[in-house]
Amino acid sequence: MPIPESLDRNKIPEHIAIIMDGNGRWAKKNNKARVFGHKNGVKSVREVTEGAAECGVKYLTLYAFSTENWNRPKSEVNALMQLLVTTIGKETKTLQKNNIRLLAIGDLENLPGNCNSELQRAMKETANNDGMTLILALSYSSKWEILNAVRRLLNDVKDQDLSEFELNEQVFNSYLCTAGIPDPELLIRTSGEYRISNFLLWQLAYAELYFTSKLWPDFKREDLWEAIIDYQGRERRFGKTSEQLTS
Ligand code: FPP
Repeated sequence: MPIPESLDRNKIPEHIAIIMDGNGRWAKKNNKARVFGHKNGVKSVREVTEGAAECGVKYLTLYAFSTENWNRPKSEVNALMQLLVTTIGKETKTLQKNNIRLLAIGDLENLPGNCNSELQRAMKETANNDGMTLILALSYSSKWEILNAVRRLLNDVKDQDLSEFELNEQVFNSYLCTAGIPDPELLIRTSGEYRISNFLLWQLAYAELYFTSKLWPDFKREDLWEAIIDYQGRERRFGKTSEQLTS
């Protein structure tokens, strides 16, 4: 499917973040177990990753597993982890072929052994790719990330590696999991829910929000492009007036 002409290639958001939601409801609609929804969700991950790379997005962050998701039934958590391991194993070659670097953010040490080691392997293998960066948020929550950042920052102040007078937004950014990565300009959430769900709370401060009722397994590359076209029609004022922007 070609990229629509209405998509302005000169106004592509550098970083898009996505809350992939609705796998369970999609499975239920199809009279299947929830895991079936997650498996079909992986197809959308592939579609959207390709669609993002094709139109020139530089960073794509996917919320794959939240800190809160550990509270799901053990069987679902295990199935999700297994799916993650097999998907990463299968897709590393495709990432290489498409010059995509894989990164992961979150409490990775909390992931089951082979999940973390597979991730580390794939990240190492793709580390030199400079086309697009695919960031998986795994065992991630924003409050966890911010608390962690504050803890490390306080330690650096205590050790006199940082003075409280040096602290500013840029310095704080460098303590987050997303250090060195620009903030997302666009956040997409599928499945008709209107929440941020503890995702990139600091980084999304000025992001444009796009909500769609499509369930994640139904979300394809053309849906991503539609969201980008919608984003391109927004006026981003960053606190200024409309007149200031046009003058
Ligand atoms: C939300 O749907 C989805 C998740 C919690 C997991 C997302 C995971 C995948 C798409 C598969 C693995 C990902 C990668 C990157 C390989 P839900 O289960 O909350 O759906 P519901 O709200 O309808 O119950």
